[in-house]
Amino acid sequence: TDRPRVLSGIQPTSGSFHLGNYLGAVRQWVALQETHDAFYAVVDLHAITVPQDPEGLRASTRLAAAQLLAAGLDPERCTLFVQSHVPEHAQLAWVMNCMTQFGEAGRMTQFKDKSAKQGAEGTTVGLFTYPVLQVADILLYHADQVPVGEDQRQHIELTRDVAERFNGRYGRTFTVPAAYILKDTAKIYDLQDPSIKMSKSASSPKGIVNLMDEPRAAAKKIKSAVTDTGTVVRFDPAAKPGVSNLLTIYAALTGLTIPELEQKFAGQLYGPLKTELAEIVADWVAPFRERVQGYLDDPAALDAVLARGADKAREVAAPLLAEVYDKIGF
Ligand code: ADP
Ligand code: NA
Repeated sequence: TDRPRVLSGIQPTSGSFHLGNYLGAVRQWVALQETHDAFYAVVDLHAITVPQDPEGLRASTRLAAAQLLAAGLDPERCTLFVQSHVPEHAQLAWVMNCMTQFGEAGRMTQFKDKSAKQGAEGTTVGLFTYPVLQVADILLYHADQVPVGEDQRQHIELTRDVAERFNGRYGRTFTVPAAYILKDTAKIYDLQDPSIKMSKSASSPKGIVNLMDEPRAAAKKIKSAVTDTGTVVRFDPAAKPGVSNLLTIYAALTGLTIPELEQKFAGQLYGPLKTELAEIVADWVAPFRERVQGYLDDPAALDAVLARGADKAREVAAPLLAEVYDKIGF
């Protein structure tokens, strides 16, 4: 195929993905299957940078894969796999660790943020080098582009620097990838505190819509979203962050534009916006949950899909690792 290659990963999370994950990332992955040669990984190696319960991690990994399939990833049109099923990730990561300067790794702001949250005792060396594992994840597939949010741009720069360093020392080996900052992605904010993004770690249960929420529970969260004391439905993130967030979600789930929505709700208070959006969200999560449950009810079939994905991934990863090992002198 002459389509550009993309690689993206998402961590398995206990419970489920949230609306921000879907509208900010996964939905774009689904679209990219049509235009790109897409590789998508459930990055369980990254998940163990913080403590995980074994059965919980196993369940979260299957749940993540089931959600990606339910969201529309098609194993016939993309390569969907679990990172730990492809041992070349960890193998290449070691080599990349030895190509990365300590100071370079120390400048990663994501590490600084995450380690601040974990505290000194909770911060593992794995957390420190996880950006380097990400370097390996990307380089292993000759990815041309890496669809990421703005917060990951620094890791793509690191990937480019390390790839160029290796290529310079050992001869051209790696494709030097470009960040593909996703356009048209909605950034979704916490329903109870729209000054922060919707996040599994920072949001309260009422502030976050999980894709696996009961439809009625999801609807209730939308209806009780915090809005300002004004009365006009207008998109104005600075003055009306709560209402603007609801409009963003509404637009993303229906395909209507923000101006169309402002017109639709002109002259109305916030009530109708919330009631309608609550119904839209409930109608979205209900069939999504059923599709996910369908995959989880047949773990053997799900595991077979993931095994085929890992085989397809290794067809690319194994020869590249062999080339790297050979060039290094192994
Ligand atoms: P969380 O912030 O909940 O821990 P992750 O960091 O695991 O989520 O993010 C997984 C993907 O979802 C990333 O591509 C990230 O950019 C995207 N994402 C996460 N939260 C949001 C949000 N509130 N709005 C839009 N995209 C988001
Ligand atoms: Na995040």
